[in-house]
Amino acid sequence: MTEKELNIKFREYSSIDELPKEDQELAHAAIEAMKGSYAPYSHFNVGAALRLGNGLIVKGANQENNAYPSGLCAERTAMFWAGANYPDEDMVSIAIAGGKEGKIEEAPATPCGSCRQVMAQYQLKSGRPMSVIMIGSRQIWKFDRVDDILPLIFDSI
Ligand code: THU
Repeated sequence: MTEKELNIKFREYSSIDELPKEDQELAHAAIEAMKGSYAPYSHFNVGAALRLGNGLIVKGANQENNAYPSGLCAERTAMFWAGANYPDEDMVSIAIAGGKEGKIEEAPATPCGSCRQVMAQYQLKSGRPMSVIMIGSRQIWKFDRVDDILPLIFDSI
């Protein structure tokens, strides 16, 4: 038996202004995207902003449904829309912001497992890393690739 350890490096910023310029723009877009959230059941409003290879920013927000599993997270709303409308563009970076009743907490809201899996698939499709930025009011976390938030990604290809 050998004991192994997985190490994950990420950067923590204390405000959006500390981020590189392009990420600042994406972070603000994610917060803006929260306005599109439709969350009558959880009251947890989430916005996502996705930067494509051509520089375009695509926004998504969680959409809930009376039949709960029919709803969708903000991240997947953005990624599926981009995948459907810009199938040839890489997904370079995604920023996520959210909170109960639209209030962003100090520590970031983090993406669910299904969204991480979908991020992994588009990263695989593009063949280049997708960075993930999670926005809190006092902590902003940036991961350089999806592997860092989904270690040991399933890959059958
Ligand atoms: N939600 C997201 O939009 N993204 C995530 O990564 C986590 C959860 C949404 C789903 C649901 O509408 C609400 O937040 C509460 O779970």
